[in-house]
Amino acid sequence: MSWFRYLLTKIKKITLSITGWLGQWLSSRCVNIHDFRKVSRWLLPKPIYGYLDGGADDEITLANNTQDFAQYELLPKYLVDVSSIDLTTHVMNCDINFPLVLSPTGMSRLFHPDGERAVAEAAKNAGLIYSLSTLSTHSIEEVAAICDVPKWFQIYVFKDRTLITEFFERCRKSGFVGMTLTIDVPPQGNREKDVRYGLTIPPKINLPRVLDYSLTPLWSINYLLGDKFELANVSHRAPVGNSDLMTLIKYLHDQFDFSVSWEDAEEMINLWAGPFAIKGISSVSDAKKAVEIGATTLILSNHGGRQLDSAVTPIGLLPEVRRAVGETVELILDGGVRRGSDIFKALALGANACSVGRPYLYGLATNGEQGVSKVLDILKTEFERTMGLMGITRVSDINRGCLRRRKFIE
Ligand SMILES: Cc1cc2nc3c(=O)[nH]c(=O)nc-3n(C[C@H](O)[C@H](O)[C@H](O)COP(=O)(O)O)c2cc1C
Repeated sequence: MSWFRYLLTKIKKITLSITGWLGQWLSSRCVNIHDFRKVSRWLLPKPIYGYLDGGADDEITLANNTQDFAQYELLPKYLVDVSSIDLTTHVMNCDINFPLVLSPTGMSRLFHPDGERAVAEAAKNAGLIYSLSTLSTHSIEEVAAICDVPKWFQIYVFKDRTLITEFFERCRKSGFVGMTLTIDVPPQGNREKDVRYGLTIPPKINLPRVLDYSLTPLWSINYLLGDKFELANVSHRAPVGNSDLMTLIKYLHDQFDFSVSWEDAEEMINLWAGPFAIKGISSVSDAKKAVEIGATTLILSNHGGRQLDSAVTPIGLLPEVRRAVGETVELILDGGVRRGSDIFKALALGANACSVGRPYLYGLATNGEQGVSKVLDILKTEFERTMGLMGITRVSDINRGCLRRRKFIE
């Protein structure tokens, strides 16, 4: 028996070092976020890649989120001293190394065995804020243990309000400095790729799906040899005697409060009594309401096109919201950012910073923590280059005059 265990440990070690080496090599070939996307498509089984990359219905909003950045063209000013560029800024009550935040994304263990731990570590090394999802596969306490820099937590309004107070308590104890309430769920968007490719949580390598999983042996080996898949923040809430994951997921699903109102959001803001963001702002009227009830940050977001298809894009809405709420309200643009120049455009249109989901997940799927670090580094380098080419040396100098809406060529 001990021989068998020894052999298994050896096989696991060798396999993990082969997959690690391959991830490193693939990551080294990627020069931009689109490359990381292509590699993760190749590495992940169809159901998992569909969950990562897909959007709701016809994916109109998903596509527009990125394409709408192309509606703007930059107006550079040359012969300016750009030998020293300062990318740092202060948002969400934290000093960060450049204007980027890592959005909350659930169940990151699906993409790499190190899941949220790897993302938190990469965010810490890059000097950026990571917002941990309620639906994470590593817990509040695990992430706090490796990430001793300011962190945020993302929450929903749950029917059982003791779940909310419990999260607030645990986050305070673990040094989370801010809370994000996501308001564009429930209900959940219609993500047809999840249905078409038979996504199950946890992933089941069963007969109908065996081909998908055998075509991606690296993911399958990593998944089978890695830690158990669990929804780490809520596993202790499983109904007594039914601690399997499916029961837990049903419990959580039942916890989503479809009757949630602005009064509930206000109650949560008062209860947290600290920096508080509302994520999912998709209209000027909601932006104004969020300010009225005391949100300190508004996140313009349509959940990366995963909820309401044909919803307005964050970049399209941004100028109107900035005009409506004034200069002092903190605005984060979330959705569609794939280039450092996108971050620059968003700041020129009035955002204080941008937030990304899929880009860092493509990095995670390709090469764990190092993949996430490389993605963040690419976005930083691109943003810095854009600043230099634009003749801008400080983030606070980026303004509306840096761009214009693209006109048809006469
Ligand atoms: C795989 C995945 C899981 C997500 N899970 C959550 C979540 O748990 N909570 C949340 O508020 N948003 C979640 N989001 C939405 C992101 O926070 C963010 O709004 C979106 O990814 C931004 O668009 P982008 O992917 O184009 O950057 C998720 C997005 C993805 C791609």
